[in-house]
Amino acid sequence: MTSDGSRATLAPVSIPTVSVPGHPVWPQLSNEEELHLKENIKDLLIQVNGVLVAHYYTDGRLQDLADETGGCVADSLEMARFGTEHPASTLVVAGVKFMGETSKILNNEKRVLMPDLAATCSLDEGCPADQFSRFCDQYPDHTVVVYANTSAEVKARSDWVVTSGIALPIIKHLASQGKKIIWGPDKHLGNYVQRETGAEMIFWPGSCVVHEEFRSVALSRFRKLHPEAAVLVHPESPQSVIEQADVVGSTTALINAVVSRDEHSFIIATDKGIFNKMRKLAPEKTLLEAPTEGEGATCQSCARCPWMGMNSLQNLLTTLQEGTNEIHVSRELAERARIPIQRMLDFASQMKN
Ligand code: 13P
Ligand code: SF4
Repeated sequence: MTSDGSRATLAPVSIPTVSVPGHPVWPQLSNEEELHLKENIKDLLIQVNGVLVAHYYTDGRLQDLADETGGCVADSLEMARFGTEHPASTLVVAGVKFMGETSKILNNEKRVLMPDLAATCSLDEGCPADQFSRFCDQYPDHTVVVYANTSAEVKARSDWVVTSGIALPIIKHLASQGKKIIWGPDKHLGNYVQRETGAEMIFWPGSCVVHEEFRSVALSRFRKLHPEAAVLVHPESPQSVIEQADVVGSTTALINAVVSRDEHSFIIATDKGIFNKMRKLAPEKTLLEAPTEGEGATCQSCARCPWMGMNSLQNLLTTLQEGTNEIHVSRELAERARIPIQRMLDFASQMKN
């Protein structure tokens, strides 16, 4: 047992320090400029036979544009699935690099563009493939399950890829077969999954710089000020925050909770970008940001992913105009990385039936 009461076995590895960029500052746009940019992007999407796939954490204007142009705004599981089902020959992925790579792995014949290839993720950065592979080699009798927030090379070293939307049923399934699991890279999500399933798991010690900043003491104080509010938490958050949640789930699960639950107020512990979709779907509800870092403190992210913030209308237009920022994954690597991703997608479609 660890000091926080979980049965976590953290891998005895030292992971690289991730350097977190500042939040990009984009020039203010007048209404006319915004309209002009959007019209140009719409024209170019048609010209290149492209479709825009955006994550819920990106700028609300990108999300709206994806919706308006027949693209999709989704969690990482649905983003992966959407690209495989849409006939467009160019997938334009507004999100972070692992999302573009997953699209490319699943659609090697399509062109995948991103507004900024430097938009990465602390989980991906903190899990270098060579170190992770050496770690896995020490436990040859374990099944390797990696979170989607990883590089193509790390996926290729795994048996299963999961997203937060499907981690619980997949680990339950593996545990029911008596499998011992190596989990990487998010220790908080891994710990949560282990608490819920009782699976035997060893963890790579990575974390998300955004969700790690939610603070449990500040949250319990905040809940006292808003006793009527339901607490919604993404499972990349620390255990002490998850324990205060009414709902723990993927970005889609949290949005569905705002729409379907009876409460009128919600305290939300995930990236603020998600408020855009929540406000659209449930304009009558009150959405409150869960506290990060405590009063007066400076925080690295303040519940805004700096890498997601690298996506804007401006660099989306440039990417489409110049065809730059294309994601490349070699055919050989894509073939290996595709196997564990496809396993997840097949499992997801079996669950639906
Ligand atoms: P979802 O799959 O829940 O959208 O999460 C992706 C992510 O990066 C959360 O930080
Ligand atoms: Fe990665 Fe966290 Fe940003 Fe999600 S919010 S992309 S896990 S750094």
